[in-house]
Amino acid sequence: MKLLVLGAQGQLGQELAALCAVRGIATTLMTRRQCDLANPGQIRAAIEGSSPSIIVNAAAYTKVDQAEKEAGLAQLANCDGPAMLAQASADAGIPLIHVSTDYVFDGSKPSAYVETDPVMPLGVYGLSKEAGERAIRSIQDRHIIVRTAWVYGVYGRNFLKTMLDLAATREGWGVVNDQVGNPTGTADLAEALLAAAEKTSGNDTCWGTYHFAGQGDATWFEFAEEIVAAQAAFTGKHPVLKATTTEDYPTPARRPRNSRLNSDLFASVFGVRALPWQTRTRNVVEAIFAQRRGRG
Ligand SMILES: NC(=O)c1ccc[n+]([C@@H]2O[C@H](COP(=O)([O-])OP(=O)(O)OC[C@H]3O[C@@H](n4cnc5c(N)ncnc54)[C@H](OP(=O)(O)O)[C@@H]3O)[C@@H](O)[C@H]2O)c1
Repeated sequence: MKLLVLGAQGQLGQELAALCAVRGIATTLMTRRQCDLANPGQIRAAIEGSSPSIIVNAAAYTKVDQAEKEAGLAQLANCDGPAMLAQASADAGIPLIHVSTDYVFDGSKPSAYVETDPVMPLGVYGLSKEAGERAIRSIQDRHIIVRTAWVYGVYGRNFLKTMLDLAATREGWGVVNDQVGNPTGTADLAEALLAAAEKTSGNDTCWGTYHFAGQGDATWFEFAEEIVAAQAAFTGKHPVLKATTTEDYPTPARRPRNSRLNSDLFASVFGVRALPWQTRTRNVVEAIFAQRRGRG
């Protein structure tokens, strides 16, 4: 297996790079500067130059609130670019693994979403990602689209790191407690994507759309409480969190109240399940403090 990873400087891209290095998987890593999804010439050159057996697209426009004002940029990175990538990969006869989001759903379902549930994005980001999914399906038969959710890890920026920053400086703050989802560690997601990549080598029956997210669900408040509890062991700080509502904390983009994903199909086809989110959260907090000790 020979991978081409796009979006190599994002939180998922860096995790994939680290995991491929540990596993000794031949991987070409392309940052946005090296391969911009808005640039068809760069996409084709990246594929021709690296001759991968499979492509993993970890690149995306992920600023959910800013997207409301930057719809053109979101559309380019999340739909038009992936469509060009799908075309270039199909022309080269190379399968494509693409990552999508729980925000393709509107949150009105009372239980966890399965792959066949109707999509209904609430904001520009979700709309652009959903359009990207459709474009890929219509262009490239040999695709795997993996919808995931609430992504965090040791690399890049994410909710967990924001909570750690707040814990370092504040006695307390409010966190919304009426949106529920599955916090997903990049380490789990990277494992899952590699398992999917490996399975596609020599197996033409598993193409399609899947859900893969952290095991168990939480509100943002519950996720934050776990992060804050985990950091206390390293900092001795015990900030107090207040449960708030979406109405208390208005954001430019509307978000689904329930975006839980049912990951059973992925587990049955690819044999991978994420760790319980609480375990992964503690692992990531530990790894971040270990890194800081190493630097200090
Ligand atoms: N983060 C989440 O909570 C979340 C939730 C559900 C699904 N997902 C999906 O999971 C995947 C990975 O997300 P992530 O959290 O790793 O995102 P991330 O940390 O924001 O990384 C995305 C990377 O893509 C790059 N990028 C943006 N526009 C690009 C373009 N036009 N061409 C090439 N690269 C471009 C970004 O570069 P710059 O930094 O230079 O812009 C960044 O390095 C994405 O498909 C995302 O939609 C994420």
